[in-house]
Amino acid sequence: MAHPLQIRAEILEISQVGAYHRMVLRAPGVAARVRPGHFAALAVGGADSAMLLRRAFSIHRADPDAETISLIIAEAGRGTRELLRARAGDTVDLVAPLGTAFPHPAGATTALFVAAGYGSAPLFALAEQVIAQGGSAGFILGAPTADRLYGVEAARQLTPDVLVTTDDGSGGIKGQVTLPLAEAIKAISAEAVYSCGPMGMLRAVTEIATAEGARSFCAVEQAMACGVGVCMACVLPVVGEDGVSRLVRSCVEGPCFDGTRVRWTDVGTIPADLHGAAAMGVR
Ligand SMILES: Cc1cc2nc3c(=O)[nH]c(=O)nc-3n(C[C@H](O)[C@H](O)[C@H](O)COP(=O)(O)OP(=O)(O)OC[C@H]3O[C@@H](n4cnc5c(N)ncnc54)[C@H](O)[C@@H]3O)c2cc1C
Ligand code: FES
Repeated sequence: MAHPLQIRAEILEISQVGAYHRMVLRAPGVAARVRPGHFAALAVGGADSAMLLRRAFSIHRADPDAETISLIIAEAGRGTRELLRARAGDTVDLVAPLGTAFPHPAGATTALFVAAGYGSAPLFALAEQVIAQGGSAGFILGAPTADRLYGVEAARQLTPDVLVTTDDGSGGIKGQVTLPLAEAIKAISAEAVYSCGPMGMLRAVTEIATAEGARSFCAVEQAMACGVGVCMACVLPVVGEDGVSRLVRSCVEGPCFDGTRVRWTDVGTIPADLHGAAAMGVR
């Protein structure tokens, strides 16, 4: 648990970055608590809004000196549309940081960062930590189309080992991020793969990374309601260190998981061998 704060945060900047929007928030006390992988939950629509649920966004950057955090937001539906109508100087109700962070890489390690679209947002700060510790980093950044890639230039400023994929071939290799993954792991001798994107991608990344002998750590984007561990809307079947499978809340026990512990094929179900499944009426 990241010891979140709830504050009224001033929007310092809201700007278009390709297909996305970057929102910079003044968040006193929050930035110093943020570790790569944490997320923020923003209220939308004001006090009288029918949109009761907060919207979750990975924290892209946190600057403890400036007391700011930034988010990369894609317009998805009513809530994000409303949020993106805000202007610099407006305030937003923010709870952050939330969830678990990616495990901090020990010593000098070689890590590959794999993301789809805005999924790259939480990965850059971690890549910088890896490099600062004497390790090295590579990236595979993908999207359906070139305009939905995020952070390609930022990645290239960190490392020459950057591959780009698009489903339609409008940028980089035609295909998904998993296409060049096995070769990329071999090419840089990656010990760990950190990924963020849709569940199907995270599952495939974990399978390939594991087959290549690398660790796999994923930030899942499971639909959330409360974001703080109360409603159980975000549960995933995960195998614990004791070998027992449980439904765990991706908002508090995640969103960052060891990918080999998530039962990807059982997501959205209650497997019969799950701890407590019988009590839930599953035979
Ligand atoms: C841990 C986490 C990190 C995320 N990071 C980012 C990010 O960095 N940038 C970004 O643009 N988006 C991110 N998302 C997705 C973002 O939360 C949804 O796009 C947003 O909630 C959609 O709200 P909406 O009202 O515009 O869309 P609607 O579809 O109208 O949303 C309706 C409801 O469904 C839920 N919902 C809809 N889509 C998603 C989704 N893909 N994931 C989870 N909940 C969803 C919302 O919470 C909301 O309650 C993240 C989600 C999670 C869980
Ligand atoms: S979203 Fe409510 S418990 Fe996770």
